[in-house]
This record gives sequence, structure tokens and C-alpha cells, in this order.
Amino acid sequence: MHGGNVHAIQRQTGIQISTLLDFSANINPLGIPNALLEIMKASLEESVHYPDPDYHRLYESMARFFQCDQDRLVIGNGAAHVIHELLTLLQPQKVLLMAPTFSEYRQALEKCDTTIITLSLSSEETFDLSLDQLEKQLQQGINLLILCNPNNPTGRLISISQMKQVLAMCRDHRCRLLVDEAFIDFTTNESIDSLVKETAHWQELMVIRAFTKIFAIPGIRLGAAVLGDVNLASRVRTHLVPWSVNAVAESMADFLNTQEAANYLSRSVALVTAEREWIFSKLQKIAGLKPVPGSANYLLVALDESAPPVEALQQYLLQHGIMIRNCSNYEGLHHHWFRVAVRRREENQKLIDHLNCFLTQNAQN
Ligand SMILES: Cc1ncc(COP(=O)(O)O)c(C=O)c1O
Repeated sequence: MHGGNVHAIQRQTGIQISTLLDFSANINPLGIPNALLEIMKASLEESVHYPDPDYHRLYESMARFFQCDQDRLVIGNGAAHVIHELLTLLQPQKVLLMAPTFSEYRQALEKCDTTIITLSLSSEETFDLSLDQLEKQLQQGINLLILCNPNNPTGRLISISQMKQVLAMCRDHRCRLLVDEAFIDFTTNESIDSLVKETAHWQELMVIRAFTKIFAIPGIRLGAAVLGDVNLASRVRTHLVPWSVNAVAESMADFLNTQEAANYLSRSVALVTAEREWIFSKLQKIAGLKPVPGSANYLLVALDESAPPVEALQQYLLQHGIMIRNCSNYEGLHHHWFRVAVRRREENQKLIDHLNCFLTQNAQN
């Protein structure tokens, strides 16, 4: 269902995980920062103790990192954990979701007694959100609107000025707004485009952030929510299972506000921006492929209708040890869509070479 399932690929094909080139999960190609790795290794020694049940140091450090009030924060075992806990506590009656978007919102809502309405984003409009259409949907008594910014899998970013219009609409319609910013750290202007600072002004706003993607720790897990509603934040914190965040993830507190972290973040954005532009320009030149311009560390790509379905491409690439994300199980996409992560140049070059080979071979047949 998700990208990055290297374990399933190893089971099915016998290819060793260490030899796989994984373009299916969107993880920082720089890997775990060295200074963080050292801190985390040291924290393993401390793991005979429980983590602090109140996560004092982590809350303090994260509030400083996000420049938000500590009482707005909820920290959890990855962004997915925070999303599930928040939604199951909220039990919203009527929710508006985009299609395509990240599947976990629906998964979480299926545990609630919720009516889900979907707004289809059109590929002709590069999957951009139309505020007119949104307004019409909100008039139907929606209690919660969920947006992913930048959206997964499209990579499209909603600007801060549009987001403020969305917030105003939500306020008019008494609707909460959950914005998942799991990938915003990879965009050029995170400090401008993120809604975290707006939580001080909008009671209805809930922002999700992930540390798994940007610090390349999906196996360690760490995520957060910053909420406009401090009472809700307090309720979610009490609702969480104690010690949900392990001691290794907890040690992020000692790294987040260091100069090393700041340098790593700016190097990451520079690398991802340059490589995304490079891959995009190469993909555009391959006959039979159409990439969607994106702002994150991945790109959504369409195969021509005349080309074989994405499963054939997936199989072909796998024979060369390359994994891509087949997007046919995203609501609103079909068997000609796939997503690739942005990695380092040598790896990106390998992907482009194999995509070229596949499409040239198929054009000749
Ligand atoms: C949009 C989005 N939000 C949240 C998550 C979950 O992140 P985490 O690994 O921190 O739980 C993902 C994972 O792919 C995602 O794509």
C-alpha cells in the first residue's frame, strides 16, 4: 500500500535490501546526519531506562525548533501515529479529502463513524486545488478538511496566501483544517510556506510535521502536531499510549537546534532542489513520460496511454534493482502513474537511463 516496502521486495524476489535502489520511499538522500547518528547511538546505552513519560526535553527542543508554544505541541511515534491519534480522538462526522492524496487519512477515518467526501484534483490542472470548488464543498456542512502540503503523491504546494484563504473559508464554515506538512522541509521556503506559526492565530488549524523524512529516520520514527486549539492538544497528549516515542527518537532533543542540524537542513534543500530540477528536465525529454512539476523530494510521472501499464515498468526496473512507487492504488490515479523520489545524481542518472531503455524498447515493439 505504501512505498518503501523493501522487505516485501526482498521476500518476493530474493534481492537483498542493501542492493536495492529505493525510489519508492521519499527519504532524504543525504541519509541520517552524522552528528545525529552519534547522539542516537549514545542514547541506545540509556535504553535500559524508560523515556521521560512527559518528554520534557523533547517538547522544549521541538517548541524551539518550530518557534511555537509548547502547549500547542503533540509528539508521537511518526507523523502517521499522530494523524491516527488525532483523528480517532476528534471523531469528525463529515470530512473532506482530496484525491489523490496520502492514504492514511482514510485509513484512520475508517476507524471512526465518519462520512468521507472526496474532491477530485484534476491532472489537467496539475492537480491544483480550486478554491471555488473547495468553497462549494465546504457549504455541505464539512467538519474537517484535510490537506497535504506539499501533496503526496503530486508534489504540488499550496502557497501561504492561498492557505490563508482556505483558513478563512474554514472559519466561515466552522470547519477544522488539518494540514499535513510531512514534506515541507524539502521545499525552498519552508519558513514562509509552513502554517505552524499560524496556529497561534487560528483555533481551527492543526499542522502535522514529520522528522522521519527530512532526517532520514523512518525506522526510528518521530512526528508531531502543532495545534491552534491548546485544549485539544492537551487532550491528545493524554490520549496517547505512554512512552509512544522511544529513547532513541527522544534523543533528537539534543540535535534539533544545533548548527549541524541547520547546516544539514540547508544542504538537503539545496541538493533536493537541484536534483529535482535535473530529474524533471530529463523526464520531460523521454518520449512517453510526462512529469508533474513538484516542490517536494519526489515527482509524480504519467506514462503515455500507449505505453505498457506501470506494473510492466515496475517489473523491468526491479530486474535492475530499482524500486519505484506504483501509484495505481491512489484514489484518482490509474495504471499509468508512478512516483519517484529525488536521490543523489549518480542514482538519479541510473533511474533515468533505465527509464529511457524501457520506453525506447517499448516504442520499437
Ligand atoms: C504525507 C505523509 N504524511 C505522513 C506520512 C507518515 O510519516 P511518518 O513516517 O513520520 O509516520 C507519510 C509517509 O509516507 C506521508 O507521505
